[in-house]
Amino acid sequence: MTTCLITGLTRILVLTYILGASLGQSFPDPSSYPATELSTNIGEAEPRDGGADLEFRYHDHDQLTRYLRAISAKYPALTALYSIGKSVQGRDLWVMVVSASPYEHMIGKPDVKYVANIHGNEAVGRELLLHLIQHLVTSYDTDSYIKWLLDNTRIHLMPSMNPDGFSISKEGQCDTIHGRHNARRYDLNRNFPDYFKANTKQPQPETEAVKEWISKIQFVVSGSLHGGALVASYPFDNTPSASPLNAVFQSYAHTPSIAPDDDVFRHLSLVYSRNHAKMARGVSCKSGSPRFENGITNGAAWYPLTGGMQDYNYLWHGCMEITLEISCCKYPPAHELPKYWQDNKESLIKFLAEAHRGAHGFVMDENGNPVERAAVRVRGRDVAYHTTKYGEFWRILLPGNYRLEVSADGYLPQEVEFIVVDRHPTLLNVTLHSAKGYVAGRTTTRKPSRVVPINLDRAAPTVQTTASATSTTSGQIHFPQD
Ligand SMILES: *[C@@H]1O[C@H](CO)[C@@H](O)[C@H](O)[C@H]1NC(C)=O
Ligand SMILES: [Zn+2]
Repeated sequence: MTTCLITGLTRILVLTYILGASLGQSFPDPSSYPATELSTNIGEAEPRDGGADLEFRYHDHDQLTRYLRAISAKYPALTALYSIGKSVQGRDLWVMVVSASPYEHMIGKPDVKYVANIHGNEAVGRELLLHLIQHLVTSYDTDSYIKWLLDNTRIHLMPSMNPDGFSISKEGQCDTIHGRHNARRYDLNRNFPDYFKANTKQPQPETEAVKEWISKIQFVVSGSLHGGALVASYPFDNTPSASPLNAVFQSYAHTPSIAPDDDVFRHLSLVYSRNHAKMARGVSCKSGSPRFENGITNGAAWYPLTGGMQDYNYLWHGCMEITLEISCCKYPPAHELPKYWQDNKESLIKFLAEAHRGAHGFVMDENGNPVERAAVRVRGRDVAYHTTKYGEFWRILLPGNYRLEVSADGYLPQEVEFIVVDRHPTLLNVTLHSAKGYVAGRTTTRKPSRVVPINLDRAAPTVQTTASATSTTSGQIHFPQD
């Protein structure tokens, strides 16, 4: 009774936020962004059709919407349904959160995401995310690993970023591009701002919604689910030398475009491919199509592209996104879906858990208040991550010795040495001291967090001390076995 009341109240508050947003106000802070959809009646009884059951078949937009609503009604303590906006044709871009804290960000614990069906005719990921939702909510009480994951992670799942494209796609079409684009014929995975090349494509509503979404919530890892190949592809997708003039040759150049976190991206991709039933074997989909060693590839080494979503996630928002090509056939017959679910189930779960690897912590001022948008860099990796409004940061890293460089306007830069071990995340709290009374500090890079040349960054005076930083390997979060 009490629980119901509280849930009801939360929903009312959340609805108020959404109404505010639809009236043109800016979105609320990340912790309160996720919300139930407007049309859910408060206190509505469970749907008559018992729609929380899930069959292995394709779900059109209405069926998908009904399923998500039924799940959120049946599992109110583990799920929250929200829409980040609408497609060109007015379909909601649904996101379901699955977590022990679905409505609120857990301070110090990572948010993670999957986005499927950005290409409307690549349909397997869309269904797999529905099955992932089902699996997570039904396993929470019986599977200690899933319980650990949901207790310590907020998982945001978007089954379709391109519902309009899906609506004209045809089951059984393996290789066509019919349905790939949005309703205005834009390829949404070429529609993001690009670090390497100016992207002149007109931003589409679906892309704008995703950009706003990932600016509100600090996602630590992300997977974008595609079809048409069997490989985990990691940044960078684009390269400084890719130009429309030599695009034809570039397609066959096989030149990798190496990200500062190449080792981590390769690792994340291997986690997916090795937990997959067959991806790591690297067998080509058909004769003439490429083989990928261990089932992974650098994006640009496969073929460079401008305006992709994964480079944007990484460079603008410090979210480590990779692209998961999970079926040779883009839209296989429904009877094959159980096989795809079995092949990908373990990968889908283990990949998200990687958000708990490496170092994370808080940046605070001398009074213990969080410092928001402090720039956090790991030496030798010239990409800046930024702290959240709670001062949090996450940096996925493989075991080793590292040096963290933290800077923020009005504070003296701080450097901290730390180690990362395999099984437990390193907790790193960093205190910044006010720059008042010192020579004016450097200015920090503001959004977007571009890759900065090493030398520019070293020019500023730095204070090297670990005296006001605490570093511990946390015994609380048990990192799962691979
Ligand atoms: C780090 O900071 C957070 C947030 O202020 C605090 O909850 C936590 O106890 C601190 N941990 C250590 C080891 O200092
Ligand atoms: Zn695709």
